[in-house]
Amino acid sequence: MAIQDKIKELMDMREKARLGGGERRIESQHNKGKFTARERIEMLLDEGSFEEFDMFVSHRTHDFGLDKQTYLSDGVVTGYGTIDGRLVYIFSQDFTVFGGSLSEMYAQKICKVMDKAMKVGAPVIGINDSGGARIQEGVKSLGGYADIFQRNIMASGVVPQISAIFGPCAGGAVYSPALTDFTIMSQGTSYMFVTGPKVVKTVTGEVVTDEELGGPMVHASKSGVTHFVSEDEQEGILLIRKLMSYLPQNNLEDPPLSACDDPIDRLDDMLNEIVPDNPNKPYDVKDVIHSIVDYNEFLEVQRHYAPNIITGFAKFNGSSVGIVANQPNYLAGVLDINASRKAARFVRFCDAFNIPIVTLVDVPGFLPGTTQEYGGIIVHGAKLLFAYGEATVPKVTIILRKAYGGAYDVMSSKHLRGDINYAWPMAEIAVMGPKGAIEVLHAKELKAIEDPEERAKFMAEKEEEYKEKFANPYVAAKYGYIDDVIEPRNTRFRIIRALQMLATKKDSNPPKKHSNIPL
Ligand code: HXC
Repeated sequence: MAIQDKIKELMDMREKARLGGGERRIESQHNKGKFTARERIEMLLDEGSFEEFDMFVSHRTHDFGLDKQTYLSDGVVTGYGTIDGRLVYIFSQDFTVFGGSLSEMYAQKICKVMDKAMKVGAPVIGINDSGGARIQEGVKSLGGYADIFQRNIMASGVVPQISAIFGPCAGGAVYSPALTDFTIMSQGTSYMFVTGPKVVKTVTGEVVTDEELGGPMVHASKSGVTHFVSEDEQEGILLIRKLMSYLPQNNLEDPPLSACDDPIDRLDDMLNEIVPDNPNKPYDVKDVIHSIVDYNEFLEVQRHYAPNIITGFAKFNGSSVGIVANQPNYLAGVLDINASRKAARFVRFCDAFNIPIVTLVDVPGFLPGTTQEYGGIIVHGAKLLFAYGEATVPKVTIILRKAYGGAYDVMSSKHLRGDINYAWPMAEIAVMGPKGAIEVLHAKELKAIEDPEERAKFMAEKEEEYKEKFANPYVAAKYGYIDDVIEPRNTRFRIIRALQMLATKKDSNPPKKHSNIPL
């Protein structure tokens, strides 16, 4: 064959591979409001940066007539490219080929990019759109999944792993995204569940739709499985690009530094007024976050889940930080099971990837009650405590208002190796709130006062005394638990100064196989 013919053969094969399961199925994909695997890659990566691997791979199964049905690429597009000039590895499942179902060779393709990512030290992004295990391949397909899971586990804490769910993701297939660091689901086209509505109906009699069982908002607000929900795939892809801008390439590198001309000493007088005089009145801690970070830009993680704690990424003078903040606007910012789990995982991610943690504290304590106790708030709360105590990245904490009880300890206190701990002048740091404290300390006297008015007067007097003594930042400052009491409007500057000072911080934990975090 002449060289021109050979080149034409190559081009024809490439063309065939690019068509995946064929034009009819591509049209059907588009009619569902979905992009194809290759279109998604084109949108995600810098223009022209994609280099594909294994375009000519096909399955090697003969059962069920599959020997007569082969497609180049075998249902998944893999390779590498760049996002804002930084290397990433990618796999994108192609629903037009056997419904994107996973075969032995398909799994090998994914494993190949994951292995390369580990050797080179670059993030892995997986775009999921699949009917699960390829039924015709039986155990080979199940084995393929487990090969991917094992790599997800080994890569955890070494390179960032991001999963986009842009179609079905069911059965054991859900566990690969669950093992990764961040999951994004698109509205209208994606769902995730271990067992689908048909099996649910057979086993439990419950009737639910795909959306009700595992749609994006279910996983964003109820289960906490997904970190982000996008309106559509395009928004989801932009979100991945944005998220990447905060993350390092791997656990040995720092996150990318951005140019920043937002003045580091920008004051915001609004912050001096934001905390209401009445300690029982809420305010939105997101206003504080937006005010202090570069260009007021904050990428919130798990926005719809446990909104009593806020987690997300921002930059200070161009450097990435993870922010954790109690939210007085929701359940008074109390720590409960979900909030503890959410924040613990976020803190551990930041620590694994050298992202300093800024914690804004306004917490009345842990949520009381049987629901919380029966649900194991003790172990779940311990997760957050553990995560902060284990973290060796720079930790800067600002107590805005309340820091009561165990929650004071948990929220990145000095005692858990907090590096810089500041408080606003209105901070109240105590074992418990004034009312609860007085009811315990003066129980006998209160019982003896029969007249309700007299009792109220007594309570008010004692509460005032208590507040003066304990509900201020100066007792903690006296013991050095608070490094300084700062003017709220100057918070941005003080945080940036602290982070600059901590930039070369080194801390470590004792050598061990791994810790035993209370799971
Ligand atoms: C082989 C599959 C397939 C699968 C879909 N297809 N799922 N082929 N194995 N798992 C094929 C269909 O035959 C069809 O082929 C094409 O993909 C598109 O499927 P449709 O059903 O026409 O599409 P749609 O109506 O959009 O429905 C999508 C779907 C449905 C909801 C995903 O296909 C479905 O329920 N599939 C089975 C899902 C499932 O039970 N998977 C196993 C889960 S258990 P043609 O030729 O017509 O285009 C599992 C275990 C993993 O995954 C364990 C890991 C540890």
